[in-house]
Amino acid sequence: EKIKIGIDKIGFAMPKYFLDIRDLAIGRNENANKFVKGLIQSEMSIAPVTEDIVALGASAAEQILDEEDKENIEMVIVGTESGIDQSKASAVFIHNLLEIQPFARCIEIKEACYGATAALNFAKNYIEQNENASVLVIASDIAKYGIDTPGESTQGAGSIAMLIKKEPRIAVINDESICQTRDIMDFWRPNYSDFPIVDGHFSTKQYLDCLTTTFEEYKKRYNQDLSDFDAFCFHLPFPKLGLKAINSIFAKVEKEEKNKFLEKFHASIVYGKRVGNIYTGSLYLSLLSLLENCDNLKAGDKIGMYSYGSGAVCEFFNLTLADNFKSHLRNDRLNDFDNRKQLSIEEYENMFFEKIILDEEGNCDFSNNRFIQESDNAFVFEKVENHKRIYKKIK
Ligand code: CAA
Repeated sequence: EKIKIGIDKIGFAMPKYFLDIRDLAIGRNENANKFVKGLIQSEMSIAPVTEDIVALGASAAEQILDEEDKENIEMVIVGTESGIDQSKASAVFIHNLLEIQPFARCIEIKEACYGATAALNFAKNYIEQNENASVLVIASDIAKYGIDTPGESTQGAGSIAMLIKKEPRIAVINDESICQTRDIMDFWRPNYSDFPIVDGHFSTKQYLDCLTTTFEEYKKRYNQDLSDFDAFCFHLPFPKLGLKAINSIFAKVEKEEKNKFLEKFHASIVYGKRVGNIYTGSLYLSLLSLLENCDNLKAGDKIGMYSYGSGAVCEFFNLTLADNFKSHLRNDRLNDFDNRKQLSIEEYENMFFEKIILDEEGNCDFSNNRFIQESDNAFVFEKVENHKRIYKKIK
């Protein structure tokens, strides 16, 4: 019999700071309901310059890994679209910070918000060939659209880390999956630009059209229908798009049936509503939110997963919940959200523009920066020395 492979542990790290979406609305002269009701967003995580994708990714992983895990990890894969270097993979820094055994492969995968799903697939295939190995998959991103842009209300920052191995304690990744690729320009970030270029309404239309066509193909190819699923998780650029996703796949279904899924959907957006878009990690944050905030799930339940990366590549696949999955999750994570510091719009704007300014030797030092003192995460980005990024373990 084929071995079962999937998510054994899952961790999440975010920066210490957030902006209330209503303050953003006031600052931009918008009706707050446009963001609160129109996007179903309430807060956004804001990253200081000292919490980049490496610091956040390593911090998310440090929460879940023990010494034995670090001995067994044979591959570290980071999905991101907020890379810090065109050549060196962020996974190499993370492998070192976590002190993972040396005989490992470390890479970064890119295809917008889809990257971490590709990483999961690669991890699963690797473990099929190397049964006793573990793979660390990290989804780490900082979404920045720019001050006073239409996308500004859908920013966010955070990182998900997942330990993938056989006989997983949280969820098995099943084999059935369908991908779709469309060469479209809905959201992209050319090398010369700090911020993405977005065709916002076109992007939401493509997200939904890719979902319905991919799910149709999935049902046809695997002879399944909605009744085969117990819940769905979606990539959530903003929670309202997930609601539209539910509405589109349940378009021809009895209201009562749909309501059962809506309840679960609301559990899946509890964290995303307070974090914003974290690109590659957003689907997996919605999974974490569902598993930690829904009382209506049990072992054996099947979760439909929709991953979408602009450009565009998407995938519909599914997970089966493991026995006792709840005991390998947290039930007090909301405290982490409550312990963050709220920023005023001015503080947010200052943080937004803080960046690396090098001297003639290629040095820049943040070690006295208050953001480092205030961070609750395990790792921070401390300085640049001779163009080399230096990270520090602080917890
Ligand atoms: N009260 C209640 N609702 C209100 C309102 C009010 N006073 N004012 C507006 N609304 C509603 C609107 O009706 C709309 O809801 P519906 O779509 O359900 O009709 C919603 O608020 C947003 O209003 P607009 O569409 O007018 O907002 P906008 O055009 O200014 O911006 C956006 C919306 C285009 C999504 C923009 O936020 C954006 O560009 N975001 C970034 C791109 C993005 O997230 N795309 C998602 C798909 S691409 C992807 O998935 C990859 C990725 O992660 C980026």
